[in-house]
Amino acid sequence: MGEIEWWRRGVIYQVYPRSFQDTDGDGTGDLNGIRHRLGYLDELGVDALWISPIYPSPMADFGYDVADYCDVDPLFGSLREFDALVEDAHRRGMRVILDFVPNHTSDRHPWFREARQGRKSRKRDWYIWRDPKADGSAPNNWLSNFGGSAWEYDEASGQYYYHAFLKEQPDLNWRNAEVRAAMYDALRFWLRRGVDGFRVDVLWHLVKDAAFTDNPPNPAWRKGMPEIDRLLQTHSTDQDEVHEVVAEMRSVLSEFGEDRLLIGEIYLPVERLVSYYGKAGEGAQLPFNFQLIHAAWNAPNLARLIETYERALPANGWPNWVLGNHDQKRIASRVGEPQARVAAMLLLTLRGTPTLYYGDEIGLTQVAIPPDGVRDPWERNEPGLGFGRDPQRTPMQWDASPNAGFTAGLPWLPLSEDRESRNAEAMRDDPSSLLALYRRLIALRRRWTALHLGAFRLLRGEGDVLVFERVHESERLLVALNLGHEPTSVDLGSFVGGTVLLSTRFGRPSERLGPVLELDPDEGVVVARGRTVAGGRDF
Ligand code: GLC
Repeated sequence: MGEIEWWRRGVIYQVYPRSFQDTDGDGTGDLNGIRHRLGYLDELGVDALWISPIYPSPMADFGYDVADYCDVDPLFGSLREFDALVEDAHRRGMRVILDFVPNHTSDRHPWFREARQGRKSRKRDWYIWRDPKADGSAPNNWLSNFGGSAWEYDEASGQYYYHAFLKEQPDLNWRNAEVRAAMYDALRFWLRRGVDGFRVDVLWHLVKDAAFTDNPPNPAWRKGMPEIDRLLQTHSTDQDEVHEVVAEMRSVLSEFGEDRLLIGEIYLPVERLVSYYGKAGEGAQLPFNFQLIHAAWNAPNLARLIETYERALPANGWPNWVLGNHDQKRIASRVGEPQARVAAMLLLTLRGTPTLYYGDEIGLTQVAIPPDGVRDPWERNEPGLGFGRDPQRTPMQWDASPNAGFTAGLPWLPLSEDRESRNAEAMRDDPSSLLALYRRLIALRRRWTALHLGAFRLLRGEGDVLVFERVHESERLLVALNLGHEPTSVDLGSFVGGTVLLSTRFGRPSERLGPVLELDPDEGVVVARGRTVAGGRDF
């Protein structure tokens, strides 16, 4: 086998560009801001940044409504500034992954404007148009992910168009060959600029049932759940033909070398998710695995889902784990601050590429948004039910200055109240901070081949304790996590006499252990077998 691909060894960091660093005082982050903070990311030790959409957009869904796939929105900067960012990142050995949004465009995209001109428009078939039913109602029962019908009536032409998200985000017709060709050219545009890969937005949505069959009701739907979940998405998503598109995207990436990365955003049960690995070289290298985001946070459940996932992976499938993103409640708010440290250790010691969400490394929590400050269209469409995503998109907190060093202007979303202490600068100088723990974990992962490439074996997943082993050649590491709030202990078995490499509790000495490992409440520990500490350094 040749060299191990960077994306297997590496750690990915998601930047939500609106919220990372503003440099022009408009209260919204920009590309120069990301560039300015590369030193921070370098010090954290991440290998790649994935940047949420930066394309020209009316921002109805904050950039996930693209009006031009081959440019940068002036809010974020320019192509020149983008090139400079890529160049600087590459100089530091960091990769740059763009968000690609192929399922839908903005309704202001020139393609849709043209398609909307009438049934005879040359671009009509680039989108999904259907006649009303005889009674004038929508062509079928499909729902929008942001609530309400997924069909919007177009008075002028007397037809409906389909939008899986906002009506300002009409779905492209991926059965149309011209659409495919145009979108692949957009990929090439960025690949030529040196982009190292793409995170493909809602990849499992691209192809829809050709007959537009009604979706069946979801028997598990209860009041308080999103309206979209009233129906199972049987016919609107995850159609077999989508794999053809994935293979085509992958081959476009391959034109630029085998190390360009295709990540798929896919919310599906594990047995369906793993089909997106495709045949060797034809699928996504990393179909995002979101199970930790939705998991009940206890040892038996985590053990079960890790094992199920490991078993479901195809022979060529490299695992990956995600703790948070811009659509999901932040980890520190899901599991609480003490367990957020355990979660960090879990993410960075499991087998598979980890993806971090900006701000999780400083323990940002959900920030309350006053009703008149709501920006997310989902919250506006289905208010008060907790679906709004603004609370997890608030600005990064860099220092204790006003607006936490994020902007000299008025931040587009509020900062969290604890910003004077919860900020990168303060935490950088505090070796007991979560940020310092993240740094040590990433460094440990890089140093030990067993952690970034080794085999995984579950040893225990009962009560409050999750224990597993990572093994590569002579390297053997044990990871023991206390998911509970009481002290506990773990029999070390073959790790008797092992050495503590790292604890989530700062100050635990790098002790040699007897037969039993004592764990504090909410403590996780990495133990190396025997006396040897790789590289002669401890952590
Ligand atoms: C993805 C994005 C989300 C966006 C949606 C529509 O799920 O992560 O933020 O709203 O797609 O593009």
